Amino acid sequence: MDRDAERSLERLLPRLRARYEPRDLTAWATFGVRLAAHFDRLFGLLRRLYGGQYDFFYHLERVLESAAESWLERSPELKALDARREADPHWFQSQRMLGGVCYLDRFAGDLAGLRARLQYLTELGLTYLHLMPVFRAPAGENDGGYAVSSYREVDPRLGSMAQLADLAADLRQHGISLVLDFVINHTSDEHTWASRALAGDPDYQDYYWMFSDRQMPDAYEKNLREVFPDEHPGSFTFRPEIARWVWTTFHTFQWDLNYRNPEVFRRMAEEMLFLANQGVEVLRLDAVAFIWKELGTSCEGLPEAHLVVQAWNALARIAAPSLLFKSEAIVHPDEVVKYVHPDEAQLSYNPLLMALLWETLATREVRLLADSMRSRFRLPQDCAWVNYVRSHDDIGWTFSDEDAAALGIRGFDHRRFLNDFYFGRFPGSFARGLPFQENPKTGDARVSGTAASLAGLEKALHEEAPEAVELAVRRILLLYGVVLGIGGLPLIYLGDELGTLNDYGYGANHAEAGDSRWVHRARFDWKRAEWRNHPSTLEGRIYGGLHRLVEARTNCPTFAGGAMEVVDIGNSHVFAYVRQDAGARILALHNMTEHEQLIAPNELRLHGLGYTWRDLVADETVALDPRTGEANVGLTLAPYQMRWLLCA
Ligand code: GLC
Ligand code: GLC
Repeated sequence: MDRDAERSLERLLPRLRARYEPRDLTAWATFGVRLAAHFDRLFGLLRRLYGGQYDFFYHLERVLESAAESWLERSPELKALDARREADPHWFQSQRMLGGVCYLDRFAGDLAGLRARLQYLTELGLTYLHLMPVFRAPAGENDGGYAVSSYREVDPRLGSMAQLADLAADLRQHGISLVLDFVINHTSDEHTWASRALAGDPDYQDYYWMFSDRQMPDAYEKNLREVFPDEHPGSFTFRPEIARWVWTTFHTFQWDLNYRNPEVFRRMAEEMLFLANQGVEVLRLDAVAFIWKELGTSCEGLPEAHLVVQAWNALARIAAPSLLFKSEAIVHPDEVVKYVHPDEAQLSYNPLLMALLWETLATREVRLLADSMRSRFRLPQDCAWVNYVRSHDDIGWTFSDEDAAALGIRGFDHRRFLNDFYFGRFPGSFARGLPFQENPKTGDARVSGTAASLAGLEKALHEEAPEAVELAVRRILLLYGVVLGIGGLPLIYLGDELGTLNDYGYGANHAEAGDSRWVHRARFDWKRAEWRNHPSTLEGRIYGGLHRLVEARTNCPTFAGGAMEVVDIGNSHVFAYVRQDAGARILALHNMTEHEQLIAPNELRLHGLGYTWRDLVADETVALDPRTGEANVGLTLAPYQMRWLLCA
């Protein structure tokens, strides 16, 4: 241990022991062991963040007290979970892991409703359920719950915190880990901290970023990106009650927290541990890139943002060891990976894969996807991508301009094409998306729309074109096929498995009207879900197809972990990779076009090790007979067909 850390711990330990040992001997003993193991790291991080504060040791001690309190309150069941996870740190890399995400109210009404839907989740094979914000939030506009008024209260319309904790336990019984959002960048302006700040309490005003005139806001804004320019220009909102400009990166009612204040770090750590003690197993770190501000910078992805998360991570190892983080950094791919580390966020969205899958469907060319995945897919051991096709947010084209330039693609123009394509403006486009935050100043825009509508289902149904419907179904399954097979934790936006279309009714609701993301946050249609096991229905074709992929993956341990090698299969319309472990090798092929594609014999021999395979997707043996000359022709993929070829 670092000498300063050691000395600090020696000084702090007797006071902590005197306080907590008498309360629970065993708990204190375990706590002491974990503290000794992780204090060095925690101390180093907090010192870098807050060592310059005159009262650093006061804050350090309080952080440790919070951790000890939380550990003493942690239930025996969760302590047992901690032990299980510590013994099996790779649990989330299993090929059995399958995620689902939904808005609780839109999926099942409320917490009680969700319990009644458990069977649906287990039938689908979920092992991970992300409920988007269920916390108390302002009654009107609340950014889909991402404006949190209390991290300790469930929105009364949805249920109570006690119910949520029960649900977490129930889900766990069914093999499902509960995932919740940890909205760390801001609180709503109705949070008690904000109310106190609005009432003029200077201590609470220090929880946020507030300025009495435009001087500093103007200075900061020189380098800031506008995230929601439709809603308010710039990044600050004037509050007449206190005559101050408040930092509001997102909406005017979402106040950015001030992590330069060690008190904010600790209070949020307490909220984190509180949620862990309710049985939440994974916290999604919402808008993590924005949490640290520094004049003269973009205030995104600053080194200190990482230190804050790492310090929380160290605290979690001490007081809630099974807790995992998932980072939500929807930014340049160079930046995305910086959050992914066993000591930071063990899980991360994979926005690059998501965006490039759609890019590939639009261009019918796999080179940008293939090159980007070849160089950017690898993660540190003990970490995993959360691979997804769609989220509740817009699609931004977050590929790297340098990667694109290397292929002769101009980023700006390409994004413009992709937007036009997915807005359905480009001739021949199959997509029906809507613009989100079109910014005339910068030419920037992002795309809203459900997976099915973007994949062509809406248009095809509207035009009553059965062949086009078939192609759209195949596109949906193809994209999900990639995220299921490529390595990591696949995440289904619940409703996609039934081909949920855009819901244009959102404009009628005042709180949603200005935000096109609501178009793809449709209410789950339980009537349609009833058709899921009827193969002749549209719902049955999508659900059944997805279900077969999930089963094939679950039964094949080669899909575990994240090792994956993109291969060049000699056809620029086919995305191909190899997954390999001691037991087996899989060559995955995806035809990203509506035309048949041929794979040449030599490529098959090289990457598929011969001419005979078991296709886990179709569940059939594929053999090219050299005697009949089949093997000289190669392997044909039907429009949008994918194959997982298990090589003999
Ligand atoms: C995250 C959420 C998004 C929200 C934003 C602000 O990116 O996914 O829905 O608008 O943070 O909290
Ligand atoms: C957050 C939001 C997303 C937005 C992005 C801006 O990730 O969730 O909606 O596009 O920030 O970069």
